[in-house]
Formats: sequence, structure tokens, C-alpha cells
Amino acid sequence: PDITFILADGNEQGFEAPEGVSVMAAATGAGVPGIVAECGGAARCATCHVYVDEAWAGKLPAPGADELALLECTAAERQPTSRLSCQIRLTAAMQGLVVRVPDRQY
Ligand code: FES
Repeated sequence: PDITFILADGNEQGFEAPEGVSVMAAATGAGVPGIVAECGGAARCATCHVYVDEAWAGKLPAPGADELALLECTAAERQPTSRLSCQIRLTAAMQGLVVRVPDRQY
């Protein structure tokens, strides 16, 4: 699906990513700045924090217990649509997904 990252500086980076990979892997593979992903996708670091666009907030699979616990530890302020991008696996239904990158991950 096509996904768009709105960067902390307001610029946008959009591209097509394969189904089955995580939003985090799509971002790091494409060199999206601001997605650190220190733990490599294991739901242990919270440095892959993103804000899912409001329009998409209710359309993604709900976060699991590990993700919810780690969302307490984000560097940038947690918001209602905060997610760990490594825990969102892209599907065809996510065509047009928009996420915002927070201003810091540490
Ligand atoms: Fe570490 Fe997502 S990459 S929690």
C-alpha cells in the first residue's frame, strides 16, 4: 500500500511499501528520518513511536498488551493515536495510511 509519513518538520515522505512488513520496517527501509527503532521491532524500545492520522485511528488493529505498556515510555508526548510503528503490519486495507513522526524518540 501507499503510505505517507508526515515528518516532525512538516515535510511529507510518501511511497509504496509491501504488504506484510511493519510500518517501522517500511520507514527505516525508505530512510524516513525520526524512526529510530532501536530494538529492531521487538516492542521493547518505543523509539519507533508514531501518531496515526485521525482518519485512520479506528481502522487499524488494536495495540496489544506489550505495545500499550511501552507506549507509557515514549519520549514525545503520548497522544490518543500513538502507536509503535513496528507493531502495525501493513495490509492492502491500509492503502493511503498516513502517520506523523514525533519530534523526538529519546
Ligand atoms: Fe522497538 Fe518498535 S522498534 S518498539
